[in-house]
Amino acid sequence: MIEPYETLDQLHQAAADAFSDLAVERVRNQGVFSVSLSGGSTPRRLYELLAKRNLPWSKIHWFWGDERNVPHDHDDSNFRMVARALLDHVSCPQENIHAVPVNLQQQPAEAARLYELELQKFFAGQALPVWDLVLLGMGDDAHTASLFPNTSALGESERWFVDNWVEKYNAYRYTLTAPAINSAREIWFLVSGQAKQAAMTHVLADDDCPQQYPSRLIKPTRWFVTSDAMES
Ligand code: 6PG
Repeated sequence: MIEPYETLDQLHQAAADAFSDLAVERVRNQGVFSVSLSGGSTPRRLYELLAKRNLPWSKIHWFWGDERNVPHDHDDSNFRMVARALLDHVSCPQENIHAVPVNLQQQPAEAARLYELELQKFFAGQALPVWDLVLLGMGDDAHTASLFPNTSALGESERWFVDNWVEKYNAYRYTLTAPAINSAREIWFLVSGQAKQAAMTHVLADDDCPQQYPSRLIKPTRWFVTSDAMES
C-alpha cells in the first residue's frame, strides 16, 4: 500500500530522513553503505538535501544506476548532476565515487563492461550486486534507470550493467539490469508529478507488460510518491 505525500517537499524530507537513518545504521553495523543513484529532477532535490546532513561520508560508496553516453562535464551527465547537487559539497573520498567510465573514443559496450567489472570487484564473490540501497526515478513512459520501453536491456537476465540503445533519443544509455537492481536490500522509487499518473497506474496494475512499462520489472521495498502522481 502506497502512502502518497501531499507535497514534493514532504516527499524529499521523508526520503532524506530515511536515507540518513539507513546510511547511519548500515555504517554502524557493517562499516560501509553502498548506494546506487538515479538521475532525474526528483532524485536531484534529495541529493541537495543530503548535502546538508551530517552523514558518515567517508564510509559511503556512491554508484550510478544509469548514465548517459556523454562526458562527465556534460550538462546531461548524471555524474555531473550528482556532483553539483551533493558530492562537490561533502568530504567524500575520491575512491568512494564510482562513476561510469564513459569514453566516447570507445564502444559503449566497453564502458559498460568496465563498469560491470568495477561492480563485481566491489561486490566480490556475490552472484549479484547486494546494494544497501538503490534509488530510482520513473519517467512518464514508466522507464526507470535507463531501462526504457522495448529496449534490449529489459530482457537481460545475466549481466549486471549494460549499454542500451534508446531509439527515442537516438543514443546509447548505460544502465543496471533489472536483476542487478532487484538484488538490493532496499529499492526506493521517487516519483512526483501529474505526468507520472498513467505510468504509475500501469506499473501498479496486475497485468500490464514490463516491455511497455519497464518499472514493472522492479521489486521496490518503498515508494516515495506525491499524491499528484497517483490516480485519484
Ligand atoms: C535518467 C534517470 C531517469 C529518471 C526519470 C525520472 O537518467 O533520466 O535515471 O530514470 O529518474 O526520468 O526523472 P524525473 O524525476 O526528473 O521525472
